[in-house]
Amino acid sequence: MQVYINGSFIPREEAMISAADRGFLFGDGIYEVIRVVEDRFVLADEHLARMDEGLRGLSIQLSSEIRNEILNIAKELIQRNDLTQGQASVYIQITRGAAWPRTHTYPDPKVQPTVYLSAASFKPHTGLHERGVDAITVPDVRWARCNLKTVNLLPNSMAKQRAAEAGVNSAVMIRDGVITESPNANIFGVKGGVLRTYPATNYILNGITRQAVLKIADELTIPVKLEPVNESELFELDELFFTGTTTDIQPVVNIDGKKIGSGKPGEICRMIQKRYDNLLAGR
Ligand SMILES: Cc1ncc(COP(=O)(O)O)c(C=O)c1O
Repeated sequence: MQVYINGSFIPREEAMISAADRGFLFGDGIYEVIRVVEDRFVLADEHLARMDEGLRGLSIQLSSEIRNEILNIAKELIQRNDLTQGQASVYIQITRGAAWPRTHTYPDPKVQPTVYLSAASFKPHTGLHERGVDAITVPDVRWARCNLKTVNLLPNSMAKQRAAEAGVNSAVMIRDGVITESPNANIFGVKGGVLRTYPATNYILNGITRQAVLKIADELTIPVKLEPVNESELFELDELFFTGTTTDIQPVVNIDGKKIGSGKPGEICRMIQKRYDNLLAGR
């Protein structure tokens, strides 16, 4: 397996970063994950636009030469790792770079950002999409810049770990009495035929899949309210589902041991899944 790091394609085991890298010391960097289906990059422009937004948000300046090569590097990784058939995912991480001595302020003069890409084969969670998943509620203890896809994933990781220890698939995070998102996906609720999801503020990541689902809802003339679901309304919902690049459209049928709606994947989720599968397949 080969990865790309700072200008070179090398075996994964040989990839190294400096101990002074600000990604390592401060979590000072962003990442993206792009889905690849039969060598076709799904919603690549949208992912790269969000990556640019994240870099701007953190004032990390990537040279235009490297920026313009990112997609080609990702494509080459798919080729080099023999992933052109079936499904794969590409991981992109860019940090502010290595700076010595360790100080909180950004290095001045600027240093070269660290650019790392890897690719792996990917199996969609088809069984979970069919049956639906169980989840627990957890407090959303993340910071107030969740719109930036930074590598600071400890609160997300802790929430997923709690879910795993509770024997369920994932978690529904709650901030100020409303549902924000899952540790690695956005959340949509359905009540009386209306789709509801947290608006794209600084308290959620504006998922690329979330945006695709909003477009699909528009095409299917499903009414949408960009309003969060209150925790108190959770068990009055007809449906709830997660959306994400590696999650796809995943119905949630049980939370904290109680059924959501009928306890089975709902009709609106099924309609959206079908359309999203077509999008993934390039149809
Ligand atoms: C916190 C969080 N929300 C939402 C998402 C879904 O975003 P996307 O659809 O762009 O994968 C992710 C994906 O990693 C995530 O980490």
